[in-house]
Amino acid sequence: SNFFALIPAAGSGSRMGNELPKQYLSLAGKPMIYHALRRLCGSDRLRGVIVVLAPDDSEWARHDWSEFSDKLVVIHCGGGTRAQSVLNGLEAVRRTSSIADADWVLVHDAARPCLSERQLDKLMDELADDEVGGLLAVPVADTLKRSDNSSRVERTESRESLWQAQTPQMFRYKLLVEALSMTGGTVMTDDAGAVEALGLHPKLVLSDARNLKVTYPQDMALAELILGNSD
Ligand code: C5P
Repeated sequence: SNFFALIPAAGSGSRMGNELPKQYLSLAGKPMIYHALRRLCGSDRLRGVIVVLAPDDSEWARHDWSEFSDKLVVIHCGGGTRAQSVLNGLEAVRRTSSIADADWVLVHDAARPCLSERQLDKLMDELADDEVGGLLAVPVADTLKRSDNSSRVERTESRESLWQAQTPQMFRYKLLVEALSMTGGTVMTDDAGAVEALGLHPKLVLSDARNLKVTYPQDMALAELILGNSD
């Protein structure tokens, strides 16, 4: 079976408080999504990289992506939620390229520009023979407080056995389509959540904090620092 990657990039990035969607914010001199694309397209093990954009996206065409043209498939079929964007993208590639039910799909957020080659390879190595699939993740380091919704602590939660989910998350094409088709209504913030809802148990592949998710403006400087120290 082959490996493909899919980047849902159809969000508006409202938490960054910006007009420009997050995936296009300038990071180390490039649109943020460039960095994830460079990593994924640069992997000899990935056969194709699918980018899912919003139907009305006008920013993508303003940049030059020709260095990735041998692997890149760009589809303007994003939906109202991340899960819907991923599902739309998976269904669209079925019609246009030779992706098979048993092929692996690595779903990766454009907002994780610092994914390293080592983390990417580790995910594929550890899951290649897996029944279910899984995701990069990190054990929770901080002490966790549950609030009473008025910025007062209600109680301290045990952090034992808690992990932070990252991306890529890697599942077989057929399972992913099946899982995401079933989620209708329930809010899924990641793909593994949809697979879990089928009663399956994705594998946690140990990653580290450098594969951070750029969510707030202050994350940008840290991401640039990490990018500058990698390769
Ligand atoms: O907003 P958040 O950071 O959770 O978005 C995660 C990823 O999902 C981003 O790359 C974003 O562009 C994408 N997304 C999408 N379609 C949506 C919402 C988010 O492709 N409707």
